[in-house]
Amino acid sequence: MLFPVTYRVNAAGHMEVGGCDLVEVARRHGTPLYVYDEATVRRRASEYVAAMGSSGQVLYSAKAFASPKFLRVVAEEGLGLDVVSAGELHLALKSGFPRDRIHFLGNNKSLDDLRSAYAAGATIVIDGDHEFDLLREVVPDGKRAPVVLRLSPGVKPDTHDHISTGQLDSKFGFSIESGAARKAVETALAHPRLELAGLHSHIGSQIFALRAYEEAMDIMLGLLAELRRELGYEPRMLGAGGGLGIAYTHDDDPPTPRDFVETVRQAMVAGCTRRELKVPELVVEPGRSIAGPAGMALYTVGSIKDIPGVRRYVAVDGGMGDNIRPKLYGARYEAFLASDPDHAPDGKVTIAGKYCESTDILITDIEMPALRTGDVIAVPAAGAYCLAMASNYNGMPRPEVLMLRDGEVEVMRRRETLDDLVAAEVF
Ligand SMILES: Cc1ncc(COP(=O)(O)O)c(C=O)c1O
Repeated sequence: MLFPVTYRVNAAGHMEVGGCDLVEVARRHGTPLYVYDEATVRRRASEYVAAMGSSGQVLYSAKAFASPKFLRVVAEEGLGLDVVSAGELHLALKSGFPRDRIHFLGNNKSLDDLRSAYAAGATIVIDGDHEFDLLREVVPDGKRAPVVLRLSPGVKPDTHDHISTGQLDSKFGFSIESGAARKAVETALAHPRLELAGLHSHIGSQIFALRAYEEAMDIMLGLLAELRRELGYEPRMLGAGGGLGIAYTHDDDPPTPRDFVETVRQAMVAGCTRRELKVPELVVEPGRSIAGPAGMALYTVGSIKDIPGVRRYVAVDGGMGDNIRPKLYGARYEAFLASDPDHAPDGKVTIAGKYCESTDILITDIEMPALRTGDVIAVPAAGAYCLAMASNYNGMPRPEVLMLRDGEVEVMRRRETLDDLVAAEVF
C-alpha cells in the first residue's frame, strides 16, 4: 500500500486523494504542502483496534505525527496515545485527547515532564533509575502513580541501525540481559509511591520481519516467569511497542497491522501458556503504520539543472526542512507528477530540495516523466516522521497541513509565516 486508500487518477488525469484533486489543492493552498487522507488514518487505526479486540490496547505514537484534528480522529477510532514530552502531552490535552488513555514515555524525563504526566493522569513508562528518584518528588505522600517499566530485550530487528532500540547497546530501557531489568522491577515494587502496572519494550521502527517481535516476546516472558517465581509479581499489562514498517516504494511489501497484532498476541499467549503465566493485557503503540501511508507531500518544481552525462537536478520548494529522513536514515521515496502520474518516464532525475546544503536531496536517481518548472510532484508515504521532525533551518517556514475527506479540505495546521519564525526572538 504505497498510496492512501482513496487514491485514484480522476477524470482530468490528476492524482486525487480523499476526493480532492491534488493539483488543484496545491494551486489553492500553495506548496510545500502535506495532505492526509482521513479515510486511510481511520482504516489503519481501526484495523489495529479490530485485530486487538478486547484483549488489549492500541496507543498511537504521537511522535510520528500529531495535530489536533489528527489526534481527534485517532481518539474517535478508540486508540490511546503515547507521548514522549510535556510538549506532546500539552498538544494532546489541548486537542481533548482522553487523559486516561495516555502513556508518557521518554529516556530522560525531566522533573517537569514527570509533573505534567502525573498531573494529567497519564501512565508513566519509566526508562531509567533516575526517574525513581524524581517520582518521589512528583507523587504526593499517600498516593501511588501507575507506572510501566521500559525494558530492553536485547533483540536487533532488521532495520536501519539508527532506528533500532531494543539491543543491549541502546540508550533506551532497562536491559534484561545485564540484570538491570530485574533490579528495576524490584525497585519499582518497593517504591512507596508507585504501582507497577506492567512492563514494556519497543525494539525499533520500520520493521518488516515480525520474527524479531516473537523473539522479544519470548525474552520478556522468560523474565516474567522469573519474576513470578522469585518475586511473586505478575504484570497487568505487557507492551510490545510499535515499529511496524510501511511501503515507501513499490518494492516494499510490509506485513499488515492485523499480521502484526496477531503475531505478537500469539507469541504472548503461547509463551504464557507454556510457562503457566497469567496472560497480561497486550499494549501496542504504532505510529508510522497509521500516519505514514495516510500522508503525501506536494512540492512545486522550481529550477532544473542539467549536467550533461552526469545528472539532472530538479529542485523543489521543500526538502530537508520538511523531510530529513533521506539524510537521516538513507530513506528511499518515490515521486509522481501530480497532473499525470501514469505518464511514461523520460529519464532519471535527482530531486533536490531548496536548503543550502549539498546533502539536501529528497530522491536520488528516480525515473520521472519530463518535468517542467511549475509542475507539482507528489511524494507518497510521507505522513510519519517528516513534519514531526521538520525544522526552520535556513529560515524556512514549515508547510501547511491539510486533512482531506469526501472532497472536503480541512486545514490542520496553517503555513508558518515569517513572523512565526521570529516570534521567540528578543528584539
Ligand atoms: C517507544 C516507542 N514506541 C512507539 C514508537 C512508534 O514506532 P513506529 O512509528 O515505528 O510504529 C516509537 C518510535 O520509535 C518508540 O520509540
